[in-house]
Amino acid sequence: MDTAIVTGGAHGIGRATSMRFAREGYHVALVDIDGPSGARVVGDIESEGRQASLWTVDLADPVAVEDTVSRVVAARKTIEVLVSNAAIIHRGTARTLSVAQWEEQLRINLTGSYLITRAVSEAMIQNGAGSIVHVGSITGIRGGTERVGYIASKAGVLAMSQSMALDLAPYGIRVNAVAPGTVCTRLNRHILEDPSAGPGIAKRIPLGRVGQPEDVAGVIYFLCTPDAGYMTGSIVTVDGGITASA
Ligand SMILES: NC(=O)c1ccc[n+]([C@@H]2O[C@H](COP(=O)([O-])OP(=O)(O)OC[C@H]3O[C@@H](n4cnc5c(N)ncnc54)[C@H](O)[C@@H]3O)[C@@H](O)[C@H]2O)c1
Repeated sequence: MDTAIVTGGAHGIGRATSMRFAREGYHVALVDIDGPSGARVVGDIESEGRQASLWTVDLADPVAVEDTVSRVVAARKTIEVLVSNAAIIHRGTARTLSVAQWEEQLRINLTGSYLITRAVSEAMIQNGAGSIVHVGSITGIRGGTERVGYIASKAGVLAMSQSMALDLAPYGIRVNAVAPGTVCTRLNRHILEDPSAGPGIAKRIPLGRVGQPEDVAGVIYFLCTPDAGYMTGSIVTVDGGITASA
C-alpha cells in the first residue's frame, strides 16, 4: 500500500485531502500539531475501513520534523506522496502585525514546508520516484490586504515549490503547487458565515460560491496520479475563477 504524508491533516483542506487519499487506497500519515483533532480524522478514516496513522509534531521544529520523517520511513518503508499543507494566519498590515507574528508565519508556513519537503524528498530520491504538492494561495500570486506576513509566506511557498521542482526532476520526483482561493474552513468561516460579509464574497467569485475543502483535495489528488505525470513546477489555481477575473 502506497503512503501519503499530509501535513495539517487534522482540519480543513488537509482533512479533506487525507480522507481522499485514504479512500483512493493510500495509507495516510497525518502530520499535525493538533493531536486530538488528528486522532479524530484517523478514526474517521479507519471507520471507512481505510488506513491512517497520526504523527503529532510542530512543523517549525527542524529536529522533530527530521525525526518524524525517519520514523514514518521506518514504519512504511517508502513514501510516495507528500502534501505540504499546514499553515497559520495572523491578520494584519505592516503597521499592525508584530515582528513575532511575522516570523511565526514564515517559520511554520514557509520554513516548516521546506523542512518536511527536504526530509521527505531524501526518502523519495532513494526510490527514484515521488509526487509532492505544496499548498500555497492565490494571494501568494496576486497579493491581498491585511495579511502581509501570511501572503509573503505563501509567495515564498510557491517560489520554493517551483525551485524544488527543477532540483528534484532529475530524480523522478514531481513537485507542484495548488493555489486555493476562498475555501470555507476554520481559517475564515467566521467571515464567510457573517450575514453582512459572506454573501458579498460569494457573489464576487465567478462560479458564485466559495470553495469547499474537497474542491482543493480533488485537485491535489489529481496532481499525484499518472494523469498528471507530465506536470512539474506547475501552480494550479483552485479559486472559482477569481484569478482569471482580475
Ligand atoms: N481556507 C482558505 O480559504 C485558504 C485559501 C488559500 C490557501 N489556503 C491554504 O490551505 C492550507 C490549509 O488551510 P485550511 O484553511 O484548511 O486551515 P486549517 O486551519 O483548517 O488547517 C490548518 C492545519 O494546519 C495545522 N497546523 C498549524 N500549525 C502547525 C504546525 N506548526 N505544525 C503542524 N501542523 C500545524 C493545524 O493544526 C490544522 O490542522 C493552508 O496552507 C492555507 O494557507 C487556505
